[in-house]
Amino acid sequence: MAQQKIAAPKGVSEYTPPRSSAFDFVRESLISPASKAGYQLIELPVFEDTDLFKRGVGESTDVVSKEMYTFEDRGGRSITLRPEGTAGVMRSVIEHGLDRGQLPVKVWYSGQFFRAERPQAGRYRQFYQVGIEAIGLDDPAIDAEVIAIADAGFKAIGLTKYRLELTSLGDAQSRAAHRVDLLKFIATLDLDEATAARAAINPLRLFDDKREEMKSAMAQAPLLMDYLTEQSRQHFAQVTKYLDAMKINYTLNPRMVRGLDYYTGTTFEFVHELLGAQSGIGGGGRYDGLMEQLGGQSLSGIGFGLGVDRALLAAEAEGVIGADAFVSDLFIIPLGEAAKVQALTIASELRLKGKTIEIAFGDRALKGAMKAADKSGSTYVIVLGDSEISSGVVELKEMETGASSSVKIGSLFDALHKKN
Ligand code: HAM
Repeated sequence: MAQQKIAAPKGVSEYTPPRSSAFDFVRESLISPASKAGYQLIELPVFEDTDLFKRGVGESTDVVSKEMYTFEDRGGRSITLRPEGTAGVMRSVIEHGLDRGQLPVKVWYSGQFFRAERPQAGRYRQFYQVGIEAIGLDDPAIDAEVIAIADAGFKAIGLTKYRLELTSLGDAQSRAAHRVDLLKFIATLDLDEATAARAAINPLRLFDDKREEMKSAMAQAPLLMDYLTEQSRQHFAQVTKYLDAMKINYTLNPRMVRGLDYYTGTTFEFVHELLGAQSGIGGGGRYDGLMEQLGGQSLSGIGFGLGVDRALLAAEAEGVIGADAFVSDLFIIPLGEAAKVQALTIASELRLKGKTIEIAFGDRALKGAMKAADKSGSTYVIVLGDSEISSGVVELKEMETGASSSVKIGSLFDALHKKN
């Protein structure tokens, strides 16, 4: 009896050829500006002690209260699949004492993250982020550089139809002053029980309520930007001055609410115009109390997380990358056993020199093998038969034009090199 097929768990994103090479291109493009700015790789576990996220990300957030994949491991410990990267980075920096060395600590990461959200286009239960964190200094120039690095990542893909939204959540004093007036304002609203409970934990969350009646009720609410202390105001003014100098466009959005509770000061989001409901392609900001909250010293930090899945969707929507970006330099079609041996050795040698080489396997007839060569997107093709082996000369055919020239097998590398 035929076995039943097994499907992937609901809501996970996965990338199979040929689209996987576009995904790879997007991920590499997004993170490449970080290493150019001196950020170093940090590779962390995908599961952590559940308390890390409860304390780090905040219990009022949807991420912690509704979306965590939490389970007990075989030793009875509560473990959670990481829903985001910043808390884990902070845990690791404290644990390894990186904060006792040169500051700022500058790291980048890339990998899978997990949130049990309702799946839809651009919203997955397992998704990919690349991110950076700069920990230990609160110089506003770092804020501007971090934002510029994210922006450079989107530009490296070729994206243009996105905007950067920016705000400041101020320091603790700014937020305390604002909170008093915001709570007074909220007390005048007629809220249902769940909304009132959410407001009691973090009243800023009401700015994020998508219901029309709440949007219009909150239209008159006092804005945190109007309560910034002089120090916070000046810090933010410096950040915008540096962004202006780097010609990075932004729009101020004083109503921005991030989904994680640790943010303070400069906070930002990148929003893509063609993605509909799930339009946030990246976001980040300062988190000046997080390290202390997690048992470390009182140091500030700033960083971002960019959504690789959504950046790929954005790139496809803008038409800046095709679905099959994989291209090899040469496709070798061996005819017969002796030719197969030769094909394998030629391919190994050329690959060692950095060329991408494919071989037609499976003793296919020439016509079928040529079709495979065409599909592979290879720049050149050679056919290796008995006569080529005995003469040591092959016909190097350019796939796009059909033009061909005789090349000695030993000179293939130079021939490929010259024509590339
Ligand atoms: P976040 O805004 O929660 O921030 O996530 C960053 C990006 O990850 C989002 O802008 C979005 O593109 C992508 N993303 C989030 N959830 C999903 C999902 N369910 N499916 C697909 N993509 C998703 C953070 O995670 C912070 N740790 C960023 C940060 C670093 N802030 C400071 N340092």
